Amino acid sequence: MRKTIIAGNWKMNHLGQDVTITVTSLVQRISPDVKPEIIIAPVFPYLPQAVELAKDSPVHIAAQNMHWEDHGAYTGEVSPAMLTDIGVTHVIIGHSERRAYFNETDETVNKKVKSALSHGLTPILCCGETLEQREAGVMQSWIEGQIEQALSGISAADAEKVIIAYEPIWAIGTGKTATAAQAQEVCALIRRKLASLYTEATAQAVSILYGGSVKGSNVAELTASADIDGGLVGGASLKADDFMAIINGAVVK
Ligand code: 13P
Repeated sequence: MRKTIIAGNWKMNHLGQDVTITVTSLVQRISPDVKPEIIIAPVFPYLPQAVELAKDSPVHIAAQNMHWEDHGAYTGEVSPAMLTDIGVTHVIIGHSERRAYFNETDETVNKKVKSALSHGLTPILCCGETLEQREAGVMQSWIEGQIEQALSGISAADAEKVIIAYEPIWAIGTGKTATAAQAQEVCALIRRKLASLYTEATAQAVSILYGGSVKGSNVAELTASADIDGGLVGGASLKADDFMAIINGAVVK
């Protein structure tokens, strides 16, 4: 069901002590009846620690990646079965940094989304265009293609469980946020694509987040937009104060 979600992607940041300090602070400050769903994605080694610290709180813990197989000869990889085994509930899939630096493709993204769903993990499926693609006028077809391929072979019932994050690559870590109008335009485009792949009801059930330099000062305008259901936050999720400002500033429609 469509809901407002604020998710923090910590990327390759924070040692164990920072994880403890930040999660503990968030757990203490987020009220049990907080309106947005809250998700935090630390790095693999600290996931069990984060799960334990967030236990009995509204904070859900996500992984930043996974393999699609349950087990096997895949040196350096982590499986969905391992993530659920330690209490992780969500997993970021297809982040642009993984696509750019680690050879993630639409095909592997699709395998991972299917595998996550079959293990009861909620995928946070990322898509987004480069500045060159936007300026060349191919943004729309690029985003539609990413969504179509990521969801290939996935039923409507399963698609409704997926969280989609639109993250224009030119706005990630640059301090250059897409305007609320630009972000809304693409989130609406994604919702129309979902309606054409499935039904309008399915499209309306999916939470679509915006990511790219989200902060306390811009979250209200972004989340007030009709098709933006929350944020996937990088830099401003690392400190509890900054992340709390985003959680408290988000508009829950
Ligand atoms: P920033 O919020 O640091 O721009 O990162 C966005 C992002 O990539 C979240 O996944």
